[in-house]
Amino acid sequence: MNKVDNKHSVKHWTLSSSPSRPFLLHLQSPVCLPPICNAAASASAFASASFTDEVMYPNLVVVRIDGCNFERFSEINEFEKPNDEKALNLMNSCATSVLEKYPDIILAYASFSRKKPSFTKGVLVKLTLQQDSFPHCLILHIFICGKMEGILSSKQHEIYSFIQITCHMLSINGGSSSISCLETKRIENQYNTCLWMLIKSGKSEREAHEILKGTKKQEKNEILFQQFGINYKNLPQMYRQGSCVLKTEVEETLKIHDNEPPVKRLQKKVIIVHSENIASRSFWNDYSCLCKDLSCFEQNVNNIKQEYMKLFQFENKLLPFTWIVIRIDGSHFHSRFSEVHGFEKPNDEQALKLMNSCAVAVLEEFKDIVFAYGVSDEYSFILKRNTQLYQRRPSEMVSAIVSLFSSTYVMKWKEYFPKKELKYPSNFDGRAVCYPSYEIIRDYLAWRQVDCHINNQYNTCFWMLVKSGKTTKEAQSLLKGTQTQEKNQMLLNLFKIDYKTLPIIFRNGSSVFWDKEMMLTDNGVITKSYKKVVVEHPNIIEDCFWETHPLILEEMSPRS
Ligand code: GTP
Ligand code: MG
Repeated sequence: MNKVDNKHSVKHWTLSSSPSRPFLLHLQSPVCLPPICNAAASASAFASASFTDEVMYPNLVVVRIDGCNFERFSEINEFEKPNDEKALNLMNSCATSVLEKYPDIILAYASFSRKKPSFTKGVLVKLTLQQDSFPHCLILHIFICGKMEGILSSKQHEIYSFIQITCHMLSINGGSSSISCLETKRIENQYNTCLWMLIKSGKSEREAHEILKGTKKQEKNEILFQQFGINYKNLPQMYRQGSCVLKTEVEETLKIHDNEPPVKRLQKKVIIVHSENIASRSFWNDYSCLCKDLSCFEQNVNNIKQEYMKLFQFENKLLPFTWIVIRIDGSHFHSRFSEVHGFEKPNDEQALKLMNSCAVAVLEEFKDIVFAYGVSDEYSFILKRNTQLYQRRPSEMVSAIVSLFSSTYVMKWKEYFPKKELKYPSNFDGRAVCYPSYEIIRDYLAWRQVDCHINNQYNTCFWMLVKSGKTTKEAQSLLKGTQTQEKNQMLLNLFKIDYKTLPIIFRNGSSVFWDKEMMLTDNGVITKSYKKVVVEHPNIIEDCFWETHPLILEEMSPRS
């Protein structure tokens, strides 16, 4: 199947290295969009407005994944407090999947925050020479979808979890400092354990905090022992020390040929460990293959300050008062996902409806999204011009939207494909692009819908020809250079198909937005009106839709 756009091409954000600050983020010359009259002709202009963070060799990247609204999530799913063993094991198993999938990830470390049972997991990645762009969205997907399905479907959850992600760039030597930083998180578990024991014993949350205020480690141990008979040191290691997922080398015996003796080989294997102190030298001595990967420690890393680590974190923000478009796109849908799941060709209505229902969930959750447009395996979400979602930080915005979309896709799969098993979790990547004016955001949407028309028409002809007995090569050469009119003629003459009568969802794609819903009495009087997220398939290239829905892309003054 063909795709006629080039939305993945141009990269403008780059990272460059300097001796004192290993990586600096800079924006290459500002992108100026030429005046646009024709959406189809302007595809390259839109693609060139995309920014991509690029990471260069040699360096280390720490990706921190953090649950969004986990307090709500853990309440609804009745997690044990302060630690829920099953939830922690689920987190660890997600991390294991990520490490298994990405050979460049060296280790992952999880710790748990003080106030609530929430999760933080660091993933330390060493980039290889070949890799120029860091796949943090993909990591996120595997993390969130890889293991959630089994657990969630068995419990009938009402809400989905989604996760935000931040990226830190580190020099090779900075990696050790980052580990030290993650390490400090574990102190919080002792506090948390005391807090929840006090609450369970009848204290209010406020009283419990008061009792613990300013207490030292030893004092907290005494509270636990004297009041609750708990020896803190006997609590499971996973609670006290967090979890570390890493690759180690193990010797495996393999039989290669039947008539030859087995051979021994060193294989990388992902393991989960709970160590006393992962910033200590003894830990790194125990897992010496980590040292090889990290070019390792020159000194003990225990005394590195958190403020210093924050220097490495880049937090770019998207230009104020521009329309932000977060476009997400299914990974390998063409070559793998649609094939493995036997999607109808060229369009699978159920698959499109599943995408739409995920978009509805995203709009319901993120109230700043004013409009979404979806076609094939992609969705564009438009945020209102003055949105302050995540202070306009693109990594959080993209990752939160992308992860909610993906987890919803996995959860709702059965609703749309009751007879088909989801063979593996779907991945989506995402990017954020800013568009500065009403005209340009309209042109952007027109570009995507023109793309939908062109692809759908081509693919409909292509698959009809293939289904009629032509080889894919023959079908391609028959369609080469044909214009819209010729393709329509071909469909009519050869297959008696009037293109205009094909389902509108295929021809126009799907638009998702908040609309007023009226409740009418029997005699037609409006009793109530409320806002609701709707899915429609209008023509969004022409003015008509926008004139009847003026509030969606409402213009407002930046000063208001
Ligand atoms: P990346 O996004 O770069 O990973 O590539 P991709 O393989 O996902 O392809 P791309 O996003 O460029 O295009 C989407 C592809 O998904 C289409 O070309 C189709 O092959 C496939 N696809 C999307 N929707 C359907 C559908 O309803 N039916 C079928 N059969 N395939 C679909
Ligand atoms: Mg795709």
